[in-house]
Amino acid sequence: MTPTDRGTNPQTARKRLHVITWGCQMNVYDSGRMSDVLAPLGYVPTDTPEGADMVILNTCHIRDKAAEKVFSELGRLRRLKDASGGHMILAVAGCVAQAEGKEILTRAPYVDIVLGPQTYHRLPEMVARAARAANGGQGAVIETDFPAEDKFDHLPEQSAPRGVNAFLTIQEGCDKFCSFCVVPYTRGAEQSRSAVTILAEARRLIAQGSREITVLGQNVNAWHGEAPDGSTWGLGRLLRAMAELPGLLRLRYATSHPRDMDEALIEAHRDLPMLMPFLHLPVQSGSDRVLAAMNRKHTSDDYRRLVDRLRTARPDLALSSDFIVGHPGETETDFEATMSLVRDVGFAQAYSFKYSQRPGTPAAGAPGQVPEVEKDRRLQALQALLRDQQARFNAACVGTEMSVLFTGPGRHPGQIVGRSSYLQPIHVLGSASLIGEDLPVRIQAALPNSLSGTLIQERLSA
Ligand code: 5AD
Ligand code: SF4
Repeated sequence: MTPTDRGTNPQTARKRLHVITWGCQMNVYDSGRMSDVLAPLGYVPTDTPEGADMVILNTCHIRDKAAEKVFSELGRLRRLKDASGGHMILAVAGCVAQAEGKEILTRAPYVDIVLGPQTYHRLPEMVARAARAANGGQGAVIETDFPAEDKFDHLPEQSAPRGVNAFLTIQEGCDKFCSFCVVPYTRGAEQSRSAVTILAEARRLIAQGSREITVLGQNVNAWHGEAPDGSTWGLGRLLRAMAELPGLLRLRYATSHPRDMDEALIEAHRDLPMLMPFLHLPVQSGSDRVLAAMNRKHTSDDYRRLVDRLRTARPDLALSSDFIVGHPGETETDFEATMSLVRDVGFAQAYSFKYSQRPGTPAAGAPGQVPEVEKDRRLQALQALLRDQQARFNAACVGTEMSVLFTGPGRHPGQIVGRSSYLQPIHVLGSASLIGEDLPVRIQAALPNSLSGTLIQERLSA
């Protein structure tokens, strides 16, 4: 027995938990919370699935061959489970679990637990049921309902220390029903946590060493939660309250919908220096026809005007976005409108995807599906333009002074790495004692995916 074992009680004996996380930042957050919820049962995170007592595969269903990817990963994990004599508990979580729960249990009967994103707080009970089922030779546990209780009310406080940058989920689900998207089906209706619980969690994160908090939601700027005085706040007001938390240096939020960008939120960009001037604001397309077919309920000019207002409020604001090429019905002219929008707005960074048919979504069965070769061609053209814009943005940083929040050691000895306000990784030579600090750096070179620079010493000793 190792010194850290807590005795012979099987409930609390030390066990190894390996969590594999695919997909968005919300899944990263959820994986952390699943580890927290299992900690009282003796589960300690481990970096590899080999020899783990439990493996959770936290999945994403948003694009591509999500289900196939899950089954191929499960095939690999099955071999590890067999090697453990069947002892390893195998759980599939996240949006593929939500959408394909029954299919998973049919095609991969060695899976012990299938749980949707709304049921993580019930994991300990599911683990106990899975153990009983294994002993009694019964089947697996499946929990993919949208329970009436709020999972956030039932999750324990975060136990593991968090990094300098922390995520905090404040809102889940989506009522927008974009034609292409599975989120409203896998994550359910929009739900906001109360300001009191969010502020309490933020204080705990800061006490554990976090200096930057990114509040998360599928549609984070639709957040409208109960305020401490019983009224209702929007995101702009919440960010103002968070900006007053002692010890916090930086704030961000992701991901937003252009339609929910209200005046109070724009004013928060104007008034809060710690709200980072980098905004991920997906537009998806620059064509009004396609935007209408996507059910986005805004035009490309609405987006341009919104960006103007944001840049007036915060002149150093840089933008990131999501684009889809080849949505059903997209013509060459529509695609050109997207290219024009990108040229007009200018993005520091962006994600772009080929449209992928998601079962059960309106666009999946729509006429005018675009041939794969055409989608490929458009994606390459768009990505070349976006890459060029990103390279220019990074090159323009050379010679300037940027504030960098240091997050950890760099790849080379004596190096530390941090993030600029635009989330660019920045390497400098410096002491590990600076991790957790936000310091000025003179940028000297732009590399393909990062920048390097030197600490501005005068300021350091000032
Ligand atoms: N096909 C391609 N891209 C998609 N996204 C969401 N659903 C699909 C789909 N069916 C993209 C959108 C969204 C991002 C998270 O993923 O651009 O903003
Ligand atoms: Fe999906 Fe649209 Fe909701 Fe974003 S706003 S999660 S793309 S349905």
